[in-house]
Amino acid sequence: PGEYDVVVVSNRLPVDRVEEPDGSVSWRSSPGGLVAALEPFMRRTDGAWVGWSGAPGDAPEPFDEHDMHLVGVPLSEGEVAEYYEGFSNATLWPLYHDVIAPPVFHRRWWDVYVQVNRRFAEAAARQASQGATVWVHDYQLQLVPGMLREIRPDLRIGFFDHIPFPGYEIFAQLPWRRQVVEGLLGADLLGFQRGADAANFLRACRRAAGLRTSGSTVRAGDRTVTARAFPISIDTPGFGDLARRDDVQARAKEIREALGDPRHLLLGVDRLDYTKGILHRLKAFGELLDDGRLDVHDTVLVQVASPSRERVEQYQALRDEVEATVGRINGDHGELGHQPVHYLHHSYPKEEMAALYLAADVMLVTSLRDGMNLVAKEFVACRHDETGALVLSEFTGAADELGGAFLINPHDIQGVKDTIVRAVESGEREQRRRMRTMRKRVREHDVSRWASDFLGALDAAGGARDDAG
Ligand code: G6P
Repeated sequence: PGEYDVVVVSNRLPVDRVEEPDGSVSWRSSPGGLVAALEPFMRRTDGAWVGWSGAPGDAPEPFDEHDMHLVGVPLSEGEVAEYYEGFSNATLWPLYHDVIAPPVFHRRWWDVYVQVNRRFAEAAARQASQGATVWVHDYQLQLVPGMLREIRPDLRIGFFDHIPFPGYEIFAQLPWRRQVVEGLLGADLLGFQRGADAANFLRACRRAAGLRTSGSTVRAGDRTVTARAFPISIDTPGFGDLARRDDVQARAKEIREALGDPRHLLLGVDRLDYTKGILHRLKAFGELLDDGRLDVHDTVLVQVASPSRERVEQYQALRDEVEATVGRINGDHGELGHQPVHYLHHSYPKEEMAALYLAADVMLVTSLRDGMNLVAKEFVACRHDETGALVLSEFTGAADELGGAFLINPHDIQGVKDTIVRAVESGEREQRRRMRTMRKRVREHDVSRWASDFLGALDAAGGARDDAG
């Protein structure tokens, strides 16, 4: 056994290794909601975080960074191509997001997925102390709970799925559906974003593995496994503090000035991913300018699209399409010295994000499918003066919680257009009423509550196992 009582396992470490042009090495915050949510929890916990550094072939010694103890799991170039870009992001990612893009199935990718999951399980087993709690995360590592239980039956094992779990007709397409279900069932507790995801998983247990379920539990051999919703959240006080900082508020002002002090500043913030509905959003915005319902002289859309999975074909195609669409809108409606869409293919530090959230009037979240969408919650957490409006897709986990948002179906372009206009024209009183209820929710349900709810339930689930044994 190792020395850590809490071990978190995820494909990505919270920092990426970057080699600077001069050959020196630095660490940059990793992209995405998983890291955004787990990092504040791990900084407060004296545990180890096992994951990949984001650089192929990199095999770092365990190291301390950003107040966390990090343990690198190496991936070769080939494994990055077949386990990460292939099976995780060209098979599972599109499949679990309701086949928005067609999933690709390759037997060879599956073999490498199995091989890499085993390496993560072994790395976690080496760090965990006797009877420790190991918390495994997300779709890249669904076989780790089962493998880990085989190596270390003494552990308490939890799993959290950050993305949707699809309906059975879709999940059933996966040739390895039974192995995936059995891998997950190595955990004592399985957490999902929404109740519907947990229900889909329980149905998969019955249909793909022939198991009996009762309420939110499933009988797996002599063990009982619980599957239920634990909606993830953000470091609400952390974002609140950021947004109150003088330099961040000054930066928000500066951003508005740089954009020509528009009357309506619309904001989109996403990884450049086809699940996010960026093209749908651009289509609606472009049509509103065409129709003259939004005036190009007093409206600006800032779209931050942070680079993501750039070697996966579908992401390359999406980037081309988004950039062509932005170019078309700016070509049609721009003037010298003024363009309606400011497109930024970058990722930014938290301070700059908080300034953007403060600068915006309307935040646009138009995902076609999204496990939670933490950007929506970050925007709300930053708006301490209770102004601003959130346009939010029904197909996000966040829509279950943020009743004060202007909800949309992103496929209904007419509805999206009408709702954007309503949000843009909403008065201060309406904004305040909506923002208050949303702020209450993210204040009361922040990420530390999410983590303690999950770990509390895991404790209880593991306890039941001890008593039974
Ligand atoms: C989503 C996934 C995470 C993933 C993140 C960034 O939030 O749920 O597991 O880490 O996207 O994607 P990447 O492939 O760059 O790790």
